[in-house]
Formats: sequence, C-alpha cells, structure tokens
Amino acid sequence: MLKSMREVVSRVLFSRQQIQDRVSELGTAVTADYRGKDLVLVSVLMGAVYFVTDLSQAVNLPLTLDFMAISGYGGSGGVVRILKDLDHDISNRHVLVVEDIVDTGLTLAYLLRSLSARNPQSISVCTLLDRPKLRIVEIPIRYVGFEVPEEFLVGYGLDYQGKFRNLPLIGILREDILRQDLSSTKG
Ligand code: PRP
Repeated sequence: MLKSMREVVSRVLFSRQQIQDRVSELGTAVTADYRGKDLVLVSVLMGAVYFVTDLSQAVNLPLTLDFMAISGYGGSGGVVRILKDLDHDISNRHVLVVEDIVDTGLTLAYLLRSLSARNPQSISVCTLLDRPKLRIVEIPIRYVGFEVPEEFLVGYGLDYQGKFRNLPLIGILREDILRQDLSSTKG
C-alpha cells in the first residue's frame, strides 16, 4: 500500500509550482495572440483535462471550451474513431487544440484533418509536453510547455493503466510499478 501518491514516481520532472508557472506563461502568450478573436479551446479526453482546465483560466479572454473523445490509433493501423464529438460549431472561429503530450503525432494529425474540414478560421496546437524524437508525422505545434525525455511519465493527467492522473506533479513512473498489472489493485 502506498503511503503517498508521490511514491509512484522515481523522479519528479516538474513540480506543481513549475507546471503552474509554465501554464501561466502559456496563458499569457495565448491571451496576447488571440485578443479580439473568437477562440475555441478544443481538448482531447482525457489526459489533457488537467492542463486545459488550468490553461483556460490562465487565458484572460472570453473563450469557448469544448472536448472530443477519440479511440486510440494503436493496433488499428492509424485508424482513429471519434467517440465524442464537439458540442460547438467551429466554422469561422479560431481553434486551439490543447493536448497533454505529443509523441508520434498520429493522434493530432488525425484530429487536425478532422477539424480543418469544418472550416475554422485558424487552427493551432498547444501541448504541455512534447517528445519530438518520437514523431512519425510532422505537425505544426505553436505552443509547447516542456520537452520531455522518453520515459514513462505520470501525473497531471498522464496515466498508467488509468491510474495516477491525479498526481499533482509530473514524474517518471517507478520501474517496479511499470511492471505491475494495476487493473485489479486498489493502490
Ligand atoms: C495521449 C495524449 C495524446 C496522445 C499522443 O493520449 O493525450 O492524445 O496520447 O500520442 P501520439 O502523439 O503518439 O498520437 P492517450 O492515448 O494516452 O489517452 P488519454 O489521454 O486518455 O490518456
């Protein structure tokens, strides 16, 4: 049994304070870039929920928040399915897609194609974490919080088998936990 959630990581990459400081900087940049524009933040469930919640509050503009849920492309040869679509029309509006992490870029490539077909006035990407070395398809990313190493990361929305998203920091998952099947454990 874990005494504290902090024990699941072998190393903290970013503390809650460091994350908040960077999110605040990103919010300031987005505010400056989208002032006077009809901004829609589009976020992908569910890893990006923590980030988009904080980022949206760091943007000092009257924006619209919307969510999509998609099935992973893993094992399906690049095929992605929309499980939950947007609630809002994005035509002629400025869309900023908010992700927690970009690895291969396949998820975003699909998403950008799907969203572009709806005739937004502009479409850009903001990701908290980026691992450009894992990229398979090149995608333009306008805002990046941090570049991170190719380790298994958890916290602030990132999970291992559905757990640890609520850890209020980003860290490297302990090797012994990474080897466990957590589906039947209660922590
Ligand atoms: C993560 C992340 C991105 C995707 C990035 O989602 O939120 O959507 O992977 O990977 P890619 O660049 O290789 O496509 P995940 O599939 O882990 O689902 P989750 O957000 O529900 O955790």
